[in-house]
Amino acid sequence: MFGPGPSGGNQRLIVVSNRVSVPRAGASAGGLAVALEAALQSSGGIWFGWSGETRTAIDADSLHTQQVGPVTFATTDLTRRDVEDYYLGYSNRALWPVCHYRLDLSRFNERETQAYFRVNDLFARKLAGLVGPSDLVWVHDYHLIPLGAALRDRGLTNRIGFFLHIPWPPPEVVSALPGYRRLLQGLAAYDVVGFQTERDVEHFVRCLEEEGLGTSEDDGTVVVGDRRIEVASFPIGIDTEGVAEMADKSVGLSSTRRMLASLEGKRLLIGVDRLDYSKGLRERIRSYVAYLAAHPEEKGRVSYLQITPKSRSEVPEYAELEREVATQVGEANGACGDFDWTPIRYLTQNVPHATLMGLYRMADVGLVTPLRDGMNLVAKEFVASQDPQDPGVLILSRYAGAAFELEGGALIVNPYDAVGTAEAIDRALRMSRGERRERWETMMDVLRTHTVNAWWQNFLAALSPAEDERSAPSSSGGAFGATA
Ligand code: F6P
Repeated sequence: MFGPGPSGGNQRLIVVSNRVSVPRAGASAGGLAVALEAALQSSGGIWFGWSGETRTAIDADSLHTQQVGPVTFATTDLTRRDVEDYYLGYSNRALWPVCHYRLDLSRFNERETQAYFRVNDLFARKLAGLVGPSDLVWVHDYHLIPLGAALRDRGLTNRIGFFLHIPWPPPEVVSALPGYRRLLQGLAAYDVVGFQTERDVEHFVRCLEEEGLGTSEDDGTVVVGDRRIEVASFPIGIDTEGVAEMADKSVGLSSTRRMLASLEGKRLLIGVDRLDYSKGLRERIRSYVAYLAAHPEEKGRVSYLQITPKSRSEVPEYAELEREVATQVGEANGACGDFDWTPIRYLTQNVPHATLMGLYRMADVGLVTPLRDGMNLVAKEFVASQDPQDPGVLILSRYAGAAFELEGGALIVNPYDAVGTAEAIDRALRMSRGERRERWETMMDVLRTHTVNAWWQNFLAALSPAEDERSAPSSSGGAFGATA
């Protein structure tokens, strides 16, 4: 059904993620979706996950499939109850807040914990029959931590890798999760476990060692029972050249031209984030208000555009945040604005990617101040979008994974410190063109090397079996050589 695979010898790639980006006419895929599709195109394969649809009952073996070139998109529906317990529940009210160091916002519930492991078993059951003996399986993100172990329970001996897109905290924090030990055992069932930063790697290795599940070796591997797994950081990147080109062209779009005209010469600060408590929106608005209080002469001469598409609104903590941020924006505009000046322009709609790149390019300052973030690709896209002759300044939280790579060029701030962040805004707006260019070049050197293609190629190079372990001859074997 899927070409060479289940019984044949070709080494294909099987990507698994909670959401699957099935190509749709007229819809533009995000950077990660484009990159994973590129990975799949190079060897042929399957992208498997949840369809995003719910049904009252699910047949344990049914799948929706769509063939696009050498790639099969295979998705399953879930019951409403499973979505509530597995996705909205354990994934987004336990794992997400705990992994973002927000024990105060986490909600634990035994039924949801059980559902999380049960849905992963269901995914494993549906996926196992599609996987051929030489296929590489690459599982993505926090929704699917136990999937590798569930596939092993079904007899799969393939190389299976896992990449966590969000932070992994130290044991003092993450051990609060219900099912903690089972999660660690799940992660230890993979051959390669990838994280965004070295900090996350350190935390995870400590978790394994303190639970007596593994011992780290000097070569970066961890011995788990009679197996050896690789645990490493693979910082995710962007299509740096593609973004730069898009930003250059986007300046001509009518939307970006309208924005430029409306600024009437004001300096532009921009923030773009999903509406999520990890993004530090309330703290950022407070910092901007602190900046205006410290520099009243700048009132009417700056404009802060915050684009914040709504997200996970069915989770109560997100619905509450939506109300709080809207109120805070209203209060700030009411207190600081004037008849002819609105200090904060606030959008909760999705803005096309090309328009965003154009907005980044015209901005003087990019405000990327999450309280915790696995990586943060907005920071990277903001930098890549800049005009090389006259780049803007990135203000970046020390708690974003991106700070590990961009600290040489960004102004690094503590997002909880409104006065310190306000000072960084002032410094950014006064920075000389020479210093801005120097800082921008430093960041671009990193971004030109750590591209999204280098990211997946490096991960798959780690996941691919060593030459002497390849059992079957493969026409596409070795397609995943590292390039950076
Ligand atoms: O950062 C983690 C992540 O799952 C991203 O991969 C994704 O873009 C984002 O969160 C959106 O989350 P959701 O699928 O819950 O809307």
